[in-house]
Amino acid sequence: MPSFYVYSMDIIFATHNEHKTHEARAILGADWHLMNLHDVGCNEEVPETADTLKGNALQKAQYVLDHYHTNCFADDTGLEVEALDGRPGVYSARYAGEHCTYQDNVNKLLAEMKGISNRKACFKTVVALILDGETHFFEGRVDGTILGEPRGTAGFGYDPVFQPDGYDQTFAEMGDDVKNSISHRGRAMRKLMEFLKDKVAEK
Ligand code: IMP
Repeated sequence: MPSFYVYSMDIIFATHNEHKTHEARAILGADWHLMNLHDVGCNEEVPETADTLKGNALQKAQYVLDHYHTNCFADDTGLEVEALDGRPGVYSARYAGEHCTYQDNVNKLLAEMKGISNRKACFKTVVALILDGETHFFEGRVDGTILGEPRGTAGFGYDPVFQPDGYDQTFAEMGDDVKNSISHRGRAMRKLMEFLKDKVAEK
């Protein structure tokens, strides 16, 4: 028996995505006991009906707090295309319809952008954290270009048509590590994780 116990603090990440959970645990280390929605027995879809990324992230975090009464955070991401006045934005997941696939979304985007020479776009992520009853937001952004044709097979979503500025590969052609080091979500999550680490140091 150890003569002392090390307590870690519970926090719920409002996601069913094991990949995102694994990534967050790796950055956060052992001071926080990070659980996702499966871990707490939540198998239903968490509502996200707001019309901004910030609104959706907060709505998801608030839902988890209301149901599980534990510190929590949630993320929401959108692809904003300059020539499409920021679309698909907050509607990126369901751009091509309610039950569409990633491929449907990419096809719709490429069709809408046919003949358009301004290919500038960015991904934005907002993370909402509710910690000890207080809300904090963290943002991450990456700028890039929408290609005319998909390239690469890794990643998900719009990765095959998004080439970040300063790189000659799409997100779907680069490894996870490279993508995470520059991506919208990677940036927002690292800000969140730094904040949480500082909180532990203050205690
Ligand atoms: P979510 O808020 O993380 O669920 O992202 C909403 C939608 O944005 C996803 O369904 C994808 O279509 C798209 N998306 C989010 N993150 C990425 C990414 O890293 N690469 C490509 N597409 C993404």
